[in-house]
Amino acid sequence: MSALTGKRIILGVCGSIAAYKSAFLLRELQGRGAEVRVVMTPSAAEFVAPLTFSALSHNQVYMEMFPDRKHSSAVGTWHIDLGLWADAMLVAPITASTIAKIAQGISDNFLTSIVLALRAPLIIAPAMDADMYIHPATTSNIAKLKERGVVVVEPEEGELASGLSGVGRLADVTGIVREVERFFEGHHLDLARRKILVTAGPTQEPIDAVRFISNRSSGKMGFAVASAAANRGADVKLITGPVALETPRNVRRVNVSTADQMFEAVAGEIEWCDALIMTAAVADYKVLNPPDRKIKKTEFVQGTPRIELAENVDILKSVAPRKGRRVFVGFALETDDTIANAKKKLVSKSLDLIVVNNPRVEGAGFGTDTNRVAILSEKDQDAVELPLLSKYDVAMNILDRILPLLPQK
Ligand SMILES: Cc1cc2nc3c(=O)[nH]c(=O)nc-3n(C[C@H](O)[C@H](O)[C@H](O)COP(=O)(O)O)c2cc1C
Repeated sequence: MSALTGKRIILGVCGSIAAYKSAFLLRELQGRGAEVRVVMTPSAAEFVAPLTFSALSHNQVYMEMFPDRKHSSAVGTWHIDLGLWADAMLVAPITASTIAKIAQGISDNFLTSIVLALRAPLIIAPAMDADMYIHPATTSNIAKLKERGVVVVEPEEGELASGLSGVGRLADVTGIVREVERFFEGHHLDLARRKILVTAGPTQEPIDAVRFISNRSSGKMGFAVASAAANRGADVKLITGPVALETPRNVRRVNVSTADQMFEAVAGEIEWCDALIMTAAVADYKVLNPPDRKIKKTEFVQGTPRIELAENVDILKSVAPRKGRRVFVGFALETDDTIANAKKKLVSKSLDLIVVNNPRVEGAGFGTDTNRVAILSEKDQDAVELPLLSKYDVAMNILDRILPLLPQK
């Protein structure tokens, strides 16, 4: 029996040349026992007649936000009702335009209104021209949706309707149905009952009451890890330095400022976690005895002002004796001899994995939405180089590698 048996699925169809494939999708979903209702955008109806879908689904097709009352039996807030009816919504094909609307929370047609009111999970399968797909607006919108827990069935590479070649062709119909099935089989929740502790952002080391020493870490990588882990069902605690980022859904956040505070917070949660992922850029040094008032410029004696520094605690080294069977993942930012330096850290800090990036590489490092990293494991120490990916996809990759290292439950 398929995991789709008895499941109620809304199939959304957008205005893409691939819209005709939705008819095959509908048949496949039904063939595996799902009850399917179809929702189309008005543009989709330019490609395939709603009659095709109503005939195949034995149901009315939902398209008009404000249907002509004379010809419709629909009453009241049916965009909400349909959202509540569903166990999942699959939008395939989804266009660049609808992706952008969902990312922004725009609900200007029936399909996008349902998405906004939906309580069930959303799965999308994009289809579009390659240039539309790789446009920064589209990649950033898709990354945003992934962070919110939307499952994306990536498009394939190949010949496109335009005659051009590239990434953007709707994923194979059977593959999409398999993804929906996997979703109901619970594979997307492969970190359920796992406790993951993530650190993120910079630390700020006060010089006095108003000045501090810090670094350029934006916290985006750590927040992406926390968000990805929570979306895979993990219980996630995120200890973060000062950053301007929203807390990801289903993540418990602890705000800290200094390296000492971050150490205290991590040390307090070590026994709790199954895996510790240290993405934070912890300052190596702090200022010795900073006063809790502002130092006046005139207080500095003549000559160059001097600040006395003291080494900060090495958080990973300090908690290493309590590691037990926990998985420890460190991040290294190296501009020179990246792999050789990362190998040294892997061993000296008792890590299972180390993720190394070089901020000099285009698209990698601080503040960007993308990253280009290499991952080294304690077992083989061979660097696995990942291509340029969104930080969320890098996070997913790291979690894939952590999963087999976790002790059996
Ligand atoms: C022949 C043709 C094919 C199109 N195919 C796609 C497509 O595959 N993906 C896409 O994002 N937009 C495609 N478009 C553009 C969309 O139809 C257009 O952006 C529309 O506003 C999308 O509306 P919707 O997202 O509400 O369905 C196509 C347009 C035409 C004329």
